[in-house]
Amino acid sequence: MIKDISVNKPEPFFPKQPLVQFNRLININRSIKGLEAGKAILITEFYSNGLVLLSELQKYIKKTMPSETFQEQREYRSTYQKLSNLIYIQVVDHKLTVKKAPFIGWLKKLYPGTSDFLLPFPQVQGLNSAWQWYQNGILIPVLRNKLHPYYGVYFPTRFDHLILLDNWLKRYKGSKKSAIDVGIGSGVLAFQMIKHGFQKVFGTDTNPNAIVGLTEYMGGTKLSRKIQLDFAPLFGQWEKQTELIVFNPPWLPASQELDKNDQAIYYNETLFLDFFTEAKKRLLPEGKLVIIFSNLAQITDVTKEHPIENELANGGRFKLDTCLRKKVKGASSKTKREQNRRSKEEVELWVLVNE
Ligand SMILES: C[S@@+](CC[C@H](N)C(=O)[O-])C[C@H]1O[C@@H](n2cnc3c(N)ncnc32)[C@H](O)[C@@H]1O
Repeated sequence: MIKDISVNKPEPFFPKQPLVQFNRLININRSIKGLEAGKAILITEFYSNGLVLLSELQKYIKKTMPSETFQEQREYRSTYQKLSNLIYIQVVDHKLTVKKAPFIGWLKKLYPGTSDFLLPFPQVQGLNSAWQWYQNGILIPVLRNKLHPYYGVYFPTRFDHLILLDNWLKRYKGSKKSAIDVGIGSGVLAFQMIKHGFQKVFGTDTNPNAIVGLTEYMGGTKLSRKIQLDFAPLFGQWEKQTELIVFNPPWLPASQELDKNDQAIYYNETLFLDFFTEAKKRLLPEGKLVIIFSNLAQITDVTKEHPIENELANGGRFKLDTCLRKKVKGASSKTKREQNRRSKEEVELWVLVNE
């Protein structure tokens, strides 16, 4: 089944006619004017030529567009995105053809049967950094083994919520036959549950890359017999009742903004109601429902609504067992406003039980 899943990846581009080229000898302003007129450009000779053109494009847009207000920043970002994605780079035999280019293993893994095509330069930068994360792995304070997140899969960069879950799992006294991890992502929560003695974890995700990535990561190891995956929304094919359901959902409501369709970060209007309705059917009478959340949306004034508090107040399905909170250890922040926000940021671990 897993073999048939097609992963998300930058779309290869096969131009009908050769593109205008860019290298050090070519006038940058003229190239930028070309981009503004919607003409795609091909980076040639050196990888760094792409970096130079991108940085000049950024400066040019900054000069020509104000980016003070929220709305202006949005327009600025959208213009930059549109124009920068017209800058292409060539891939032949799974390698970038320009000199001094980074090695990016995804070009072989994600495009095994395609040997000559173009990709937008910013997407190649994304592939490059994702390859570094994947190759080097990420050390997680609560796990012995590093995570190796697959391309396009959400992975944790701060760990306070994982520490909360770890502490809760240490004290968990219930049965450990099975658990469900909704939105398994890079697998971190499932690995924590296995570490704490759960015999079987059923994971789902709507992101195909998460399922393909974890399948590859686990290979034929013992882990692959303990964690079962389904590429499906919410609970997927897992119908049987279980003693523990864990969900680290998106923390921010999706607004009408077009670029906010990342399902790891933004939730839609029905996600929580659907989740609680389905969770009710699958939680054993003595089971625990654990949801990781944060006050991020509230302290940034995105919304006053809190989907878990809403459920407890109005759902009639679950009652509160415990809520643990932990201040987020902030990385150093640039602005006062950001520092102020960070100092209030907390992650939350909600434990709900049947009414
Ligand atoms: C914030 S990430 C958490 C990932 C991982 N569990 C972790 O803690 O690092 C949310 C995950 O849920 C997935 N997701 C979003 N909506 C979903 C849905 N309706 N059903 C299943 N998974 C979903 C996303 O693709 C993403 O992998």
